[in-house]
Amino acid sequence: MLNAIEISPDIWWVGGIDWNERSFHGYSTERGITYNAYLIMDEKVTLIDTAKATFSDEFMQRISQVVDPSKIEVIVANHVEMDHSGSIPVILKHAPNAKIYASGPAGVNELRAHFGIEVEGVKTGDTLSIGKRTLSFVQTPMVHWPDNMVTYCPEDKILFSNDCFGQHFATTKRFDDEVDRCELFRQAKKYYANIVLPYGPQAQNALKAVKGLDIKMIATSHGIIWRSYIKEIIEKYDAWSTYQVEEKAVVAFDSMWHSTELMAREITDAFIAEGIPATLFDIKATHVSDMILEMMDARYVAVGSPTLNSNMLPTVAGFLAYMRGLMPRNPQRIGLAFGSYGWAPLGPKQVYEGLEQCKFNLPVPVIAHQWIPTADDLSELQAQVRRVIEEGKEA
Ligand code: FEO
Repeated sequence: MLNAIEISPDIWWVGGIDWNERSFHGYSTERGITYNAYLIMDEKVTLIDTAKATFSDEFMQRISQVVDPSKIEVIVANHVEMDHSGSIPVILKHAPNAKIYASGPAGVNELRAHFGIEVEGVKTGDTLSIGKRTLSFVQTPMVHWPDNMVTYCPEDKILFSNDCFGQHFATTKRFDDEVDRCELFRQAKKYYANIVLPYGPQAQNALKAVKGLDIKMIATSHGIIWRSYIKEIIEKYDAWSTYQVEEKAVVAFDSMWHSTELMAREITDAFIAEGIPATLFDIKATHVSDMILEMMDARYVAVGSPTLNSNMLPTVAGFLAYMRGLMPRNPQRIGLAFGSYGWAPLGPKQVYEGLEQCKFNLPVPVIAHQWIPTADDLSELQAQVRRVIEEGKEA
């Protein structure tokens, strides 16, 4: 029998720990995932969120440690994505009369579409008495789907935040002050970069809604519960969702015979020579979701590809497609496209077009060198990087 964990008097963590999941929609989850759900033992036994369907056994075992699942009267579905709603049908088998609440109309419609179930819609400002406690709801659309909402319990000062403030971080520990702080914030940032990044204005709206609340605990539906670093994670979300950039550069490339790699190394060195920290990634050696983590708040992003069969390399095309979906328009972000070719500079040109589609400010034309860049070519690259940096100062 797997253990439930009491996180506050009469409030239990009853989630699942997915130690070995290494991908969430293509985002590499090297530390695994948790699907956090919470059981509130009040006059009406209430469940906040559930777990991915493949974790329903684990989830039910934890609930059963605290209460007979048939006693559950209320299910709050903060988010319909199936990592949180997947075990609702299992709960309903045990507690067929449990009433389900979700944000209306999006959550109601989505739950109906997924499971054919009846749901009561709630909106921001609505409250629900479950006995000694009165839950209140705040809709947070697009953090991460149109249906997302958070649920606040004022009596315990707990915000059940679902995806917001989450991290993919499987551990035996449940609280922020029990794990390595650097790793926790790294995972929170990686989660933001790969899940929430396109929705900055919506994340800002969610922050405005929760900033007025007296919160002693943010019980996320992924990873660690915040209780000691609440101010810090809210400040981070504020910076991330307003697209603040740091004076740093990220250079990403793939290469066949090292010509594009030579250029990438020269560009990296040129940034460093100008006092701008730079990170160099070989796209085939680093997962795209880790590169996005570094690029999210970098002012300068340089991307390079050689030319293969009249195209950029498929690895670079895949990387740009992933970035295009995530990166918002930000006039402060400066791009640089480069690469090599044998007889037609089509690969680097496609990189340039890819960066245009990602809404980068591109102050210099694509830099393409035939066969192997000469020493003069590499010196010229240094000058072009200096031009890019000058442009960055204007942005
Ligand atoms: Fe954790 Fe959007 O689901």
